[in-house]
Formats: sequence, structure tokens, C-alpha cells
Amino acid sequence: MEDDADRGDICAPRETNVTRAVRQVRTDARVERHGHRGGVLWFTGLSGAGKSTLAIEVERSLFGKGYEVYVLDGDNMRHGLNADLGFSPEDRAENIRRVGEVAALFSRAGIVVVSAVISPYRSDRARARAAAGDDFHEIYIKAPLEVCERRDPKGLYVRARRGEIKDFTGISAPYESPAAPDLVVDTAANDVPSCVEYMMSYVETALPLNGEPDVPTF
Ligand code: ADX
Repeated sequence: MEDDADRGDICAPRETNVTRAVRQVRTDARVERHGHRGGVLWFTGLSGAGKSTLAIEVERSLFGKGYEVYVLDGDNMRHGLNADLGFSPEDRAENIRRVGEVAALFSRAGIVVVSAVISPYRSDRARARAAAGDDFHEIYIKAPLEVCERRDPKGLYVRARRGEIKDFTGISAPYESPAAPDLVVDTAANDVPSCVEYMMSYVETALPLNGEPDVPTF
């Protein structure tokens, strides 16, 4: 019985002599096992906007409620899978392509992924959405540049202003804010617990626990 779980693949393989393995575990069986659908909560926003902080807190809250959840953090991914990439537009595109593909795989495996990457280009985020399909939620972690710069948790803005870091998002590289995000979380106007509460109510509606599996059943 063929499962359609891999249909989200958006890249044509370079080689032509590759086929697909047919799966025997269906999506609805995974939903039943985990108690919820898989999904991608894609956090985008400036450095210092609060993506990693909120991702970690949302992960903790969801895990506490019984969700299978995992954070893919940009800084962490750049220590492993994406260690060969820099911050040129081309490298960021490849960074986001890889994070998007990994997130989509986790999601198809039935896990809720929280990805926290700046992902400054709309076109790259659109590709990540295409990879994950319907289960992709673009969440704009929003804070004005002045606020992020004042927070400067890693001391990078001050160095970018001095010209020590090139292509720095918001200073010497663009950030294209989402045109139609699924959720906007304003971290300049709300504290961390309120932001987490707001996101939790969104997730619990979008990916309800022990809800009726909203997938075709044979
Ligand atoms: S993305 O643009 O490709 O999505 P990603 O989220 O993986 O970026 O990595 C951003 C992190 O790398 C920032 O949080 C910051 O700590 C660090 N960083 C180092 N150099 C830069 C730069 N030029 N622009 C943005 N972030 C940078």
C-alpha cells in the first residue's frame, strides 16, 4: 500500500537513475501513535528578535503536554549539517533549503519541528513551505531592528556596525518580512511567557493533541 508521505519533495534529483522506496507505514498510523500530526513551526525574524529563546520555551511546553517536538536552531545547524555555509545570499538559500528539507522530513515522521532560522529571503521561505506542504506554519518573530540591536545578546550588532561582520542581517544584508505569515509574535510588546502562551494556543488549535486524524483514511 503506497503512502503519499514523500510527495512534498520539491527538488528534481540531479541523477536520473534514482527511484523512490515505497513505504509501508502510513501517515494516519503515525498520527495515531504520536497523538498529533507532524508539522513545521517556522520561526523567522531578525537576529535578537527572540527566535531561539521562544523556540526552546515552546519546545519545553509542547513536550510537557505530550507532543513529540524538536527544535532546529540556525546557530546549531551551522555547527553540523550546515558547517560549510556562510552568509552570502547563495549560502543562506542553501542553508534554508537544507533546514527546510530536514524540517519536512521530521514533520512527515510525525514530529512537530520548531525551526529557528533568520531565513531573511521570502523566496527561500517559500521553498521551505513547499517542501513541508500543508503542515507548514510561518511564524514571524517580530521586533524592530533598534530593539534587537539594543538587546544584542551575542554582541554581533555592535561588531557589524563597526564593519567587522559583513552581510549582517538588518545592517548590511536585507531582511524581507513575511507578506502573509500564519502568526505574528511581537516580542518588543510582549514578554516571553505571554509570547509562549500565545503560540501554544495557536499550536494546540493547528495541531490538536489526540484530535481526529485529519488525513485520508483507507
Ligand atoms: S540565515 O540567514 O541563514 O537563516 P541562521 O539563522 O542560519 O541565518 O544563522 C543566524 C545566526 O548566525 C545569527 O543568530 C548569528 O548568531 C549568526 N551570524 C553570524 N554572522 C551573521 C550574519 N552575517 N548575518 C546574520 N547572522 C549572523
